[in-house]
Amino acid sequence: MTKKMYITTPIYYVNSVPHLGHAYTTIACDILARHYRQQGVDIRFLTGTDEHGANIEKSAAAKGVSPKAWTDEVSAKYRELWKTLNISYDAFIRTTDPAHEHVVQAIFEKLLQSGDIYLGSYSGKYCVSCEQYYDESEMLPGGICPVHKKPLTEVHEETYFFKLSRYEKPLLKYYEEHPEFLSPKYRANEIINFVKSGLRDLSVTRTKVKWGVPVKSNPAHTIYVWFDALINYISAAGAGMFLCEGDKAEHQEKLALIKAEKFEDLWPADLHMVGKEIFRFHTVIWPAVLMALGLPLPKKVFAHGWWTVEGNKMSKTLGNVIDPAKLSAEYGVDPVRAFLFREVPFGQDGDFSMTSFKNRYNADLANNIGNLLSRTLNMLAKQQPQIPADIILPAEIQQKTNETESAINKAYEELAFDKVLEQIYGYSADLNKKVADTKPWELVKTDPEAAKAILLELIGCQRYVAKWMTPFMPTIGAEMSKRLEAGTIEKYAPLFPRIADK
Ligand code: ME8
Ligand code: MG
Repeated sequence: MTKKMYITTPIYYVNSVPHLGHAYTTIACDILARHYRQQGVDIRFLTGTDEHGANIEKSAAAKGVSPKAWTDEVSAKYRELWKTLNISYDAFIRTTDPAHEHVVQAIFEKLLQSGDIYLGSYSGKYCVSCEQYYDESEMLPGGICPVHKKPLTEVHEETYFFKLSRYEKPLLKYYEEHPEFLSPKYRANEIINFVKSGLRDLSVTRTKVKWGVPVKSNPAHTIYVWFDALINYISAAGAGMFLCEGDKAEHQEKLALIKAEKFEDLWPADLHMVGKEIFRFHTVIWPAVLMALGLPLPKKVFAHGWWTVEGNKMSKTLGNVIDPAKLSAEYGVDPVRAFLFREVPFGQDGDFSMTSFKNRYNADLANNIGNLLSRTLNMLAKQQPQIPADIILPAEIQQKTNETESAINKAYEELAFDKVLEQIYGYSADLNKKVADTKPWELVKTDPEAAKAILLELIGCQRYVAKWMTPFMPTIGAEMSKRLEAGTIEKYAPLFPRIADK
């Protein structure tokens, strides 16, 4: 058995078109996937779309199309954006995939048999936009949804419950024994306190929602969209063992969503990357369902923060939604990818503004990395037309480079993307400083060999910069490497034209 590194994004709701916030979660996973592939790790990177539930039913109705047509359209928009943003996912799951629906149904029946799911009835305050019930302690005064600030609806219904209460102690024990499960650390206490305050059984079916996976043994009920959605992580990994024989035969091919790999080779996931607002679903409900199924739990769930725009929440009403495709068309995909992870420590909230985007672009990319590359190549070209294949760095430079690389790898382990970039930009800034201090363009007049040695050293060092940047900037990183490899130096366009120059 060869366990792969298995990382996932959330699956995205298809009730609206993707924006910068959605792109953020996905680019983070893509950077990780590319970094670990570079390290020779066998990685599987899953993303997809979450396509059931009342909200999606409503969005489709508002457009006057069937839910199926609507989900096909928006799911395709996500795949289109991931292509634009150069996302190297290995598998894309849709919760409307028949193979996924069958796994959801089978898991539901299994938990019904084990007594983890039982039929009851429910009355409570429900937010249709969140698709979630709120109790007194969670709602705002006057029965208002804390997220949407709209009145909650009083709902009475027959419903199946998942025995979440059964898993209070096992969950607390798991958190204690696996501190990395709740990441970053500063988000752990909120979850631990929530579980300690007592878990109530969770309503996991709806009779009013038609656009959902029907309960096999009682199709008047459809399965709650979150219960359906979380299962994607294992259905996409080939969790077909829950299917009865008939289903297995029928869906043999479709089950092999991830390159026909074995479930045991992928599961447990190494990382579920999520936004902070869905951390609780992933760290309370999901592990409890897995425990009920007797499956191992994911090693880590990491919650990142939220982007605002010039101090405001991104919203259609405010008209301030940042379209990552548009931004990329104007400034390049790679600078957008890198900006998002340098500006804000990963995990914390951040504020997007065009001013900070332009400042970072000019400072980190145009003036630091881009300028260094063009000036070294230009100076060297004046002395010799060729770059040699092997450049042996002086011992102390090699050591410093190795130290930087170790710091980068360590920062990746902590998902501290900002620290990764800080290391790279710092290393590159030191190289720029070396140019300023040694002035090779003057040195060449008195000691051309010494000047050449400095330039070759700078080229050798930048080969590392190019490699380190590649997970963030797949296209430009590769272009940098190409310009730095052995061969004739050509006349190149700047990698990052200064924004003010445009
Ligand atoms: O929650 N800043 O999907 P989703 C940062 N279908 N991240 C943001 C953001 C912002 N302004 N807006 C959204 C769902 N996101 C469920 C998941 S998983 C089994 C089911 C991020 O489309 C958000 O934090 O509403 C989340 O990680 C992702 O976009 C998907 O949001
Ligand atoms: Mg959401």
